[in-house]
Amino acid sequence: MKILITGGVGFIGRWVVKYLLKEKHDLWIIDNLCNAKEDNLIELCSDPHFKKFIKVDIKNKDILHQIFQEKFDLCLHLAAAINVQLSLDNPKEIFETNVEGSFNILEEARRTNTKVILMSTCMVYDKAKNSQKIDENHSLLPRSPYAASKITAENLALSYYYSYGLPVAVLRPFNTYGPYQRIDGEGGVISCFIANSLSGKALNIYGDGRQTRDFLYVEDCAEFVKRTISSDKIWGETINAGTGKDISINELALLIGNGSGKIKHLSHIHPQSEIEKLVCDYSKAKKLLGWEPRVSLEEGIARTKEWICSQRKKD
Ligand SMILES: NC(=O)c1ccc[n+]([C@@H]2O[C@H](COP(=O)([O-])OP(=O)(O)OC[C@H]3O[C@@H](n4cnc5c(N)ncnc54)[C@H](O)[C@@H]3O)[C@@H](O)[C@H]2O)c1
Repeated sequence: MKILITGGVGFIGRWVVKYLLKEKHDLWIIDNLCNAKEDNLIELCSDPHFKKFIKVDIKNKDILHQIFQEKFDLCLHLAAAINVQLSLDNPKEIFETNVEGSFNILEEARRTNTKVILMSTCMVYDKAKNSQKIDENHSLLPRSPYAASKITAENLALSYYYSYGLPVAVLRPFNTYGPYQRIDGEGGVISCFIANSLSGKALNIYGDGRQTRDFLYVEDCAEFVKRTISSDKIWGETINAGTGKDISINELALLIGNGSGKIKHLSHIHPQSEIEKLVCDYSKAKKLLGWEPRVSLEEGIARTKEWICSQRKKD
């Protein structure tokens, strides 16, 4: 298949590119590099199926118009402004990238009859209650402009399915972690905890640390995306991916810090945007795609730690 991947230089995008090259799909990648380095693609860009990387902002309609002249079979739309805290400080940027940018992609897809898979997120959900896991019918709650922008992009995308018959699907991975995620304050909590623990620094927990997350290893996420693109059962569907197990941030800090005790609780910058409990029911992905997560949290943390150590040796 001839596939356009937006945000393909980013953390999840880079793994998706790797998995789809293995399947011999021809890939065009666009990214404005605002949250990723082109180096992420170094070991992938010599593959004969890696057709082109174009540095472009999805807000730029004119360049998107030219790029879509290529006539793709599918657009995997991953590009997004992803920082929840920043979305509270600067909602305009989130709206322009995640809503207007997605609209630009959908319009080009409609014009060229290109299938679209939109990468959304578990952050659109209201918290899990009691021991209930979150399936795709769980209530949504826009706790932050980020969540609102993703809910809006999802609805826009699905409206193209219902209004124009465009094949569109929405994916909602839960918190994803692993190699290539940023290890500074802008990265995910697992990468930040590992990096701080290796440097002998305290693991900073915002709030009381009792909030829970369901952490999905990035290669399980890439496998999930790979399976969606080879299925004809996904159009018009919204599909979760997670592990079905959650862990509190306090427990995660103990696990990564080996109980070293170097944990600091800081007051939450935006406590109102916290989702207290997130845990995924992935039975729809299992039923439709035969997908199940394979990598345990312990194994995923070990692989991420190994990668962070290898990066430090290079510096
Ligand atoms: N990381 C997670 O835990 C997680 C979980 C669920 C869903 N997601 C979703 O997966 C997707 C990828 O997330 P990620 O964690 O890999 O983040 P990321 O920031 O590493 O990847 C996003 C990519 O999009 C690019 N980008 C941002 N704005 C752009 C613009 N205006 N034009 C072109 N490119 C732009 C960035 O440079 C980056 O390479 C996002 O849609 C995100 O919402 C992430």
